[in-house]
Amino acid sequence: MISRREFTAGLALPLVMRAQTSALQSRIKIDPDRRIGDIDPKIYGNFAEHLGRCIEGGLFDEGSPLADSSGYRRDVRQAVKDLGVTFLRWPGGNFSSNYRWMDGIGPRDRRPARLEMAWGTVESNRFGTHEFLDYTEALGIEPYVCANFGTGTWTEAQQWVEYCNTAEGTAMAKLRQHNGRQKPWKVRYWGLGNEMDGSWQMGHRTAEDYGKFALEGAKLMKWTDPDVRLIAAGSSNFGANADWVGWNREVLAYLKDHIEYLSLHTYVGNAANDYYDFLAVSNQLDDRIRTAAGIIRAAQGGARTKPIYIAFDEWNVWYRARGNTQRGRRILEERYNLEDALVVAAMLNAFVNNANVVKIANMAQIVNVIAPIFTDEKGMFLQTIYYPLQLFTANTRGAALETYLDSPSYESKTYGKTPYLDVSSSLNGRSVTMNVVNRHLDRDVEAEIEVQGGAFQGGFEVQVVTGPDIKAENDFGRTAVKAEKSSATASGSRLRHRFPAHSYTMLKGALA
Ligand code: AHR
Repeated sequence: MISRREFTAGLALPLVMRAQTSALQSRIKIDPDRRIGDIDPKIYGNFAEHLGRCIEGGLFDEGSPLADSSGYRRDVRQAVKDLGVTFLRWPGGNFSSNYRWMDGIGPRDRRPARLEMAWGTVESNRFGTHEFLDYTEALGIEPYVCANFGTGTWTEAQQWVEYCNTAEGTAMAKLRQHNGRQKPWKVRYWGLGNEMDGSWQMGHRTAEDYGKFALEGAKLMKWTDPDVRLIAAGSSNFGANADWVGWNREVLAYLKDHIEYLSLHTYVGNAANDYYDFLAVSNQLDDRIRTAAGIIRAAQGGARTKPIYIAFDEWNVWYRARGNTQRGRRILEERYNLEDALVVAAMLNAFVNNANVVKIANMAQIVNVIAPIFTDEKGMFLQTIYYPLQLFTANTRGAALETYLDSPSYESKTYGKTPYLDVSSSLNGRSVTMNVVNRHLDRDVEAEIEVQGGAFQGGFEVQVVTGPDIKAENDFGRTAVKAEKSSATASGSRLRHRFPAHSYTMLKGALA
């Protein structure tokens, strides 16, 4: 293992002068019998909020030559399909806390434009319930609707469920049919508000007030459709709510018998421009997941009649395009680089490594706004963070496996001892996938990978996301960071593989 002083000295050298010495050595072991839990496909979700150019100018761009006759951007739809989005949250976010869903139904030209106070704009309401649910249906994505538990009422939430899910005969079912949709969409996943712990939230409440209010809403929503799955607003970004443990505890005390998920949010960043500290941030995520799982267990008092899972329904790197001055149309337009892509891969590893409790995760967001897809009027490009998410979504399915790791490590200022390698693995039938982030800035790490109690079939597909510069970004017409394909061959139960410095690698093979 090299010391912090050694790699700090290495950082001072220009990248081209940093001669690659021998690789550091590590060991990885997987055992098909040691399973953490099933990986829920909904951990590969995204989020579309009425915010900046996420929906209008992103997913939906009426009048654009790039849009179809309904207003959906064709190029964005293709990128969403290729990303393999499984689950899409809408309409917010902070936006949802003053959203009147009835403003967004009926003929588009007759819908009212409303003052939008979460982000300081005007909401046209031209994209509403039908536009969202028709989109997810066409793409085979599971929709997740976040109801207004800020300024909204219990009846509004209940009637929204009725409008979407009741087949016929009721006032809301007839209204939906009158608006052109005969059969219900049957939306299963509903949020009981967004970040209700935050003073920035319209209709912000104390945990006790929120717990009582959400409980009554939850009852009405389930009595309207017993098949709905409810997600309570747990604590927002950990840093923003110092008492995040207390909030979750109190909310669960009211809602534990009425919800299936507790929502948590996390946004991370590298404001201090400390590469190694930033790359270690997933340690904290892992800790917080385990703490939240403990809070849920404690709330259930040992009587685990039905599980309550964690929904990380907002997560990403977000620190540049942030702050109170961020109001208007071109907001939260974060441009991502290679180090962000590596952090995203490590965060996905944390979700997979906690697959028994994290059953929902939505990268925030999907287009333009802190997003993997970025557009302008003439086209689009894929940001660096698109690639790790796409590789996980396509390849890391089935059961999450416990992964043994013996790797050299370093001391992160904030997050303590951190191995250079960060790993997760999964087994889907005979197909085995490993996701490996090499956090080392300038040294490769070689691993002896072993499968216990069996053997590999031989050939492995390898996809690597890396580049010469950790600050490299993609742009219109320039793809500096993407996934590069290669292959590897295992021999019996072992595979030796060299992971390049500052890289994310997906290895996919099969058990013999
Ligand atoms: O995703 C951007 C915003 O971040 C969301 O609207 C809010 O829920 C969070 O604070």
